[in-house]
Amino acid sequence: MAGVGHAQSLAAKRVLLIVGGGIAAYKSLDLVRRLRERGARVRVVMTAAAKEFVTPLAFVSVANEKVYDDLFSAIDEQEVGHIQLSRDADLIVVAPATAHIMARAARGLCDDLATTLLLATDKRVLYAPAMNVRMWLHPATQRNVSTLHGDGAWFVGPNVGDMACGEYGPGRMSEPLEIVEAIETALKQDTRLPAPEGLLARGGALEGLHVVVTSGPTHEPIDPVRYIANRSSGRQGHAIAVAAARAGARVTLVSGPVALSDPPGCEVIHIKSARDMLTAVEATLPADIFIAAAAVADWRIEPARDKIKKGECGAPSLSLVENPDILATVSQGLRRPRLVVGFAAETSDLIRHAQEKLARKGCDLIVANDVSEGTDVFGGATNEAHLVTRSGVEDWPRLRKEDLAERLVARLAQMIRAGATP
Ligand code: CTP
Repeated sequence: MAGVGHAQSLAAKRVLLIVGGGIAAYKSLDLVRRLRERGARVRVVMTAAAKEFVTPLAFVSVANEKVYDDLFSAIDEQEVGHIQLSRDADLIVVAPATAHIMARAARGLCDDLATTLLLATDKRVLYAPAMNVRMWLHPATQRNVSTLHGDGAWFVGPNVGDMACGEYGPGRMSEPLEIVEAIETALKQDTRLPAPEGLLARGGALEGLHVVVTSGPTHEPIDPVRYIANRSSGRQGHAIAVAAARAGARVTLVSGPVALSDPPGCEVIHIKSARDMLTAVEATLPADIFIAAAAVADWRIEPARDKIKKGECGAPSLSLVENPDILATVSQGLRRPRLVVGFAAETSDLIRHAQEKLARKGCDLIVANDVSEGTDVFGGATNEAHLVTRSGVEDWPRLRKEDLAERLVARLAQMIRAGATP
């Protein structure tokens, strides 16, 4: 009976035991018994292959609990739910951890209940590998083990010994008492995995804040039918507006002419020219955060009232006038938001130009990206950014614009919480 004659070293601890399909599965029955003797509550999940070796009923008997095995069980989902099943545990233990289950976990596959729990968990996972020697030593398995290590997993075993298949070497699952000891050691530490960057707190990381975003190109009229424009699609700016709204902010999006639909949950102001964009942005202030993602035309011309006709004097020469700098105006204005973010689209000397823009415009952060031909940033779906602040440069990998937006918003929330000031 649970608890008799043993120190309650695991009292009130909740262990989720995932049983993989290997002959060592029978040892996991004993593992459950040992854990319960020490006061732990053990919930058991079996893979389909595990049930070929040991019956669920055997685990129900030793765990004195229902055994879970079905990702799509409506009843289980209603009673516990697979996310809760994974989150309720203090530690997840996979024993036996077969080559297959580790391969799937290393790749982030979630094609059954066990692997879904491994992907959804916010706790560390302790693997007790068990497999044939050659399978254990195979470079693919070793690769998966180091991936899992890198993702924060712990390992116990495998032991060296005679295998059920007649070979000798590393691959035997650790004995139940060795696994118990590893679990005791693990549970003395913090078993929580750090929250991934971009994970937003419930209630929204930007709850209660007003965020103003500019997006898209501007069109500078030449005459009633012609204009100067650029290749900006507005995709990055719009994605930022969406991410900020999702994080709970009140979002005003000031958008140039784009082919995108208005993002849900944002107030959208449509403008055409740079001067209209500045007027619209100033009307939205005060704000807590200003993000200038628009590709504002640097120059305009005084437009002709009538359509310019082909004349005898050849091509007309356009005389350009500099547009107001919206980012600099907001950043240096009296109603400066707490956090001002600019973008730098460059084709050479990316970081140096971004640092120079940061200083010249007086903003807090520049998202710098290379828009040279072939990078597919302007108008494309992805972006490779460098975050430039006064304290340094951070290189981000190539991300979908939506993912970059989420990550940027999470970072801004962090900066606001840390009390960012100009
Ligand atoms: N920006 C702005 N108003 C302008 C020009 C730029 O608000 N008239 C903002 C952009 O939205 C972006 C940042 O300033 O956040 C930098 O834009 P970029 O085009 O890279 O730089 P420019 O200031 O235009 O300088 P240059 O074209 O010489 O690189």
